[in-house]
Amino acid sequence: MSAVVEEPENAPVGGGPDRFVYVQTFGCQMNVVDTDRIFQVLAPLRYQPTDDPSRADLILLNTCSVREKAEQKMLSELGRLAPLKDFNDDLVLGVAGCVAQQEGARLLDKVPYLDLVMGPDNIAQLPGILERVRAGGGRVAETTFAGRKDYEFIEAVPQSPGKVSEFVTIMKGCDKVCTFCIVPFTRGREVSKPAELVVREVETLVASGVREVTLLGQNVNSYGKDRERQPHFAELLRAVDAVPGLERLRFTTSHPTDCTDELIDCFGELRTLCEAFHLPVQCGSDRVLQAMRRPYTVEHYLGRVARLRSRVPDMALTTDIMVGFPGETEAEFEATLALLAEVRYSSIFAFKYSARPGTRAASMPDDVPEAEKQRRLREVQRLQDGIYDAMLADHHDKTFEVLVEGPSRNAARGGPDALQLMGRTRQNIVVNFPVPVGDLWSRRWIGKLAPVRVDRVHSHSLHGQLA
Ligand code: 5AD
Ligand code: SF4
Repeated sequence: MSAVVEEPENAPVGGGPDRFVYVQTFGCQMNVVDTDRIFQVLAPLRYQPTDDPSRADLILLNTCSVREKAEQKMLSELGRLAPLKDFNDDLVLGVAGCVAQQEGARLLDKVPYLDLVMGPDNIAQLPGILERVRAGGGRVAETTFAGRKDYEFIEAVPQSPGKVSEFVTIMKGCDKVCTFCIVPFTRGREVSKPAELVVREVETLVASGVREVTLLGQNVNSYGKDRERQPHFAELLRAVDAVPGLERLRFTTSHPTDCTDELIDCFGELRTLCEAFHLPVQCGSDRVLQAMRRPYTVEHYLGRVARLRSRVPDMALTTDIMVGFPGETEAEFEATLALLAEVRYSSIFAFKYSARPGTRAASMPDDVPEAEKQRRLREVQRLQDGIYDAMLADHHDKTFEVLVEGPSRNAARGGPDALQLMGRTRQNIVVNFPVPVGDLWSRRWIGKLAPVRVDRVHSHSLHGQLA
């Protein structure tokens, strides 16, 4: 079932003045997609998105609490925006997302100028919440989790016309119990979006010009397990792969325990499924993995990698790494370095452990000193940089299928007679290449697959020529 967004009674009708909403998004892709849904539910109330907070009638910070730093960033941003309330009596200032869910009404006590607090499950209710705030109902905190039976997904409507690549949420929540992680507390239990709704959203996106979709969830590998007669993840991939006009399919994020043979075998078999797989390992020590309650061993993980690479030799693997988990010894940290050297990821997201309130790990002594966490993070990044450089160098003189997304950030770099376009390989590596200047030439390529031969290797991207 998808949620119907009701217009509150006082919604402006006809040619009423537009209001502006400014949303600042922190954290992961889940929040990015949630921000699109916020814009979507506000559109019938004639709220237009703006990039300028001083123009806004509604400011929302869509927050992340997965690491301490993200939460601190949100609090300082809130302080920076607060003075805008002095200039606009009607300005509503709110906090959405994971910090909102975690703190609830406490956040209203802590931050006196805040008007509303709203959890990730309450986006469909935002029009009603706003009505309550605006009607003088005071400050509102709405952080109720919908139960598994009555959770309703908002059917996504594309918010950014002209985009080539889009995310599609296929499930919410997480049923894993990693001891360091706050997500199960802020996003609740797993609920899968009905497969027919996922396919319909992909079809709508493709009809609007999208060529690549990334299926999104905290652990997409367990998709469908919460519902009877619901296809499992590999079956969902097959259904999405069959959508006419779709060129590329990706998904994130996965869990090594649920990475089945059936899923691995989809790679190389499904036309649109790209040879790129984000498979978070966290660390290279079995003892630490156990303390993290990640129920796999390094050997099991390497077995998954070996099977993936035996099916698809040019598979680009990426991962999440955490250093400085409580009790992590030097030898255990070195096991993480050894794992990185063995797998040779094309990129990694590396984090210093930070205790999150309410998690199991928060009751363990956070005994790796900050400076040591810092050093371990630096070492991980240094090792990975070397691996990445060598991997990119390997692309020289080879030709890749590039899905063109638009002008590159330094679009004019192509020289006086050329414009530089940007796209990605199936392995998700950025490639810039010049095309002759002129709308006809450059626009024609957007959303198309271009064969590009790499002639220069930069530190984080490739440069090439149309082959
Ligand atoms: N401290 C540091 N990193 C964390 N992550 C999750 N929780 C924490 C934490 N408490 C990282 C994990 C996860 C990624 C999304 O964020 O590596 O895979
Ligand atoms: Fe957090 Fe673990 Fe769930 Fe990922 S799998 S969201 S790290 S609890």
